[in-house]
Amino acid sequence: MAIPSYFLILATILFSNVSLSVRAWVLQDTIDVNTWQQLMRVDTHATNSEYVNYLSKDDALAQGLIKNQNGKLRLDVDSNTWVDSSIPTPANGGPGGRKSVRLQTNKQYNAGTLIIGDFDHIPVNKCGVWPSFWLVGPTWPIDGEIDIIEGVNEMPQNQITIHSKPGCAPAKGPEGETGARTGRNDCGENNGDIGCGVFNTSPAGWGAGFNQAGGGVYAMLWTNDTIKVWHWTAGTSPLNARSAQPRPEGWGPPVANWVGCQFQNFFGKMNLIVNTAFCGNWAAADAVWKTGSCASKGQCQDWVAWNPNEFKEAYWLINSIKVFSQ
Ligand SMILES: *[C@@H]1O[C@H](CO)[C@@H](O)[C@H](O)[C@H]1NC(C)=O
Repeated sequence: MAIPSYFLILATILFSNVSLSVRAWVLQDTIDVNTWQQLMRVDTHATNSEYVNYLSKDDALAQGLIKNQNGKLRLDVDSNTWVDSSIPTPANGGPGGRKSVRLQTNKQYNAGTLIIGDFDHIPVNKCGVWPSFWLVGPTWPIDGEIDIIEGVNEMPQNQITIHSKPGCAPAKGPEGETGARTGRNDCGENNGDIGCGVFNTSPAGWGAGFNQAGGGVYAMLWTNDTIKVWHWTAGTSPLNARSAQPRPEGWGPPVANWVGCQFQNFFGKMNLIVNTAFCGNWAAADAVWKTGSCASKGQCQDWVAWNPNEFKEAYWLINSIKVFSQ
């Protein structure tokens, strides 16, 4: 049967619209156990008053805090050593604090970036622990901050947050979002301190629940028009999200779906970081520690210093972190 020509014309119009609106994502970097030393540096600076001693690369490798575990990249904390909590951390001129690591990409990323992080295990949600998989620009909050996986203490869910200078008050994208909003309307209110947050209400998206689900994947898409974050438990991500040709336009509603800002003007030149902190500005803040479920543990710093066994599960086990650009 002959296909009426108007069908072909219609098909051509539809097809060209689709190919115009969807630009391909191109794989730039794959961070894993084989490549991390070329793509990332080990940073010893603690910038959030955390009770931590971030080791240098040589020390972290020698002490086993960075290691190859069955072909995966394991980033650990010291869960063996009792620490004298009266000794200041390196940020305060001493050799104290619980040992941990902080890895940061050499490259800085801009709008037009898609990051897909595949983890077998993330640090558990226990008192004093403050892990994060995040991006931050050189000048805070002017260059912004995007927290893909972050939370403190015994929080039951991941809090995805964007922090910026004032003037970005994003709405919800048309596909909707599965998470629950928290924090501020303007991500720069109060100088970006609280930011715009979205809780991933799935227990499998955070801490012990994430690990019980066998791990999982977080993807963050950042363009001029939107910042979106998706989460899948292990083995349930779309096949193209595991390939070199991801197609986020078919992934369905994200957990967090921000639109309505010119995001390139609020977020830029950002390094991608994976770290595990203890206590510090968020976890040990009076309003968080003293009024929350960890209040009975005494001071955060003492708790973390004196209870190494509590932190056996405070490690990242990374399959890969892929960075795509448009
Ligand atoms: C974002 O907008 C800027 C102009 O503000 C433009 O130069 C850049 O190419 C755009 N980026 C993308 C990924 O479209």
